[in-house]
Amino acid sequence: MSKVFVARPISEIGVNMLKEKFDVVVNLENKVLSKEELKKEVAGVDAILPLLTDKVDGEVLDAAGGQLKVVANYAVGYDNIDVAAAKERDVLVTNTPGVLTEAVAEHAMALILSAARNIVDSDKFTREGKYKQWEPKGFLGPQLKGKVLGVVGLGRIGSRVAQIARKGLDMEILYYDVKRNEDFEKEVAARFGDLDEVLKQSDIVSIHVPLLPATRHLINEEKLKMMKNSAVLINTSRGAVVDEKALVEALKSKEIFAAGLDVFENEPELSPGLAELPNVVITPHTASATFEARDAMSKIAAENIISVLEGKTPPNLVK
Ligand code: GLV
Ligand code: GLV
Repeated sequence: MSKVFVARPISEIGVNMLKEKFDVVVNLENKVLSKEELKKEVAGVDAILPLLTDKVDGEVLDAAGGQLKVVANYAVGYDNIDVAAAKERDVLVTNTPGVLTEAVAEHAMALILSAARNIVDSDKFTREGKYKQWEPKGFLGPQLKGKVLGVVGLGRIGSRVAQIARKGLDMEILYYDVKRNEDFEKEVAARFGDLDEVLKQSDIVSIHVPLLPATRHLINEEKLKMMKNSAVLINTSRGAVVDEKALVEALKSKEIFAAGLDVFENEPELSPGLAELPNVVITPHTASATFEARDAMSKIAAENIISVLEGKTPPNLVK
């Protein structure tokens, strides 16, 4: 019987699908495995179901052995997997696109609204008993209607954020992507611009690109300086797309108004000073954390493994 290793306890739906067909081992300890632990656990398996916290490189693939056929990531992003190393070893890599689009887009909206309207800081203020009188000038933030949302990366998630912002909040949409999408431009009256134009003209900038060598520190000190002093930066993609140290400085010096971050450059660690800033809303990489998305991610990762182990092309093959 084929063997499957699941790196952490995930929603049971997919695990049960796998258990009907294969010999499945789940790391029930619910602790991120070290490289050495991961190498030990994967020895002899036919399929690995890692999380975004598991780095699957050539060493881990070799530790699994020549029978390994598929690495089915429990995430849409797959920067934690060395896809080239997998290819060299004839191991297929799959991800979970589509099923978490809504969850991540809704979370990006939550961060936009929270960061713009100081929701977290004012909640803290109220809980601490500091609300003594109504303040005509306290906790002011920008109205969103009519403002420009700059979407950096118009994939599924970026497009969905643009739709919600346009149709729900009447925002103007500006976007940058490596390719133009004219149908989308018509749908939400979006304008295309290069990255610098988007950064210079937007009131809210929301990042939706994958982490690649070309997107590492895409938003650096120079780019942050281009943004409006009133701008809000939202990141639900991967932390390293933003130079986090430069972002801390930009928030401190009011180079930009606020930020909403779900991802960090050295997760789970935060850059020094970030957590102390009142003008940043931070969540622990929970953008896909809806009941619906996590169940669907489990199911789709299982379907990818089942397809490969049954000799079929998996639905979500990476490249
Ligand atoms: C989450 O960050 C994912 O890539 O699914
Ligand atoms: C990811 O699913 C994306 O295309 O944005």
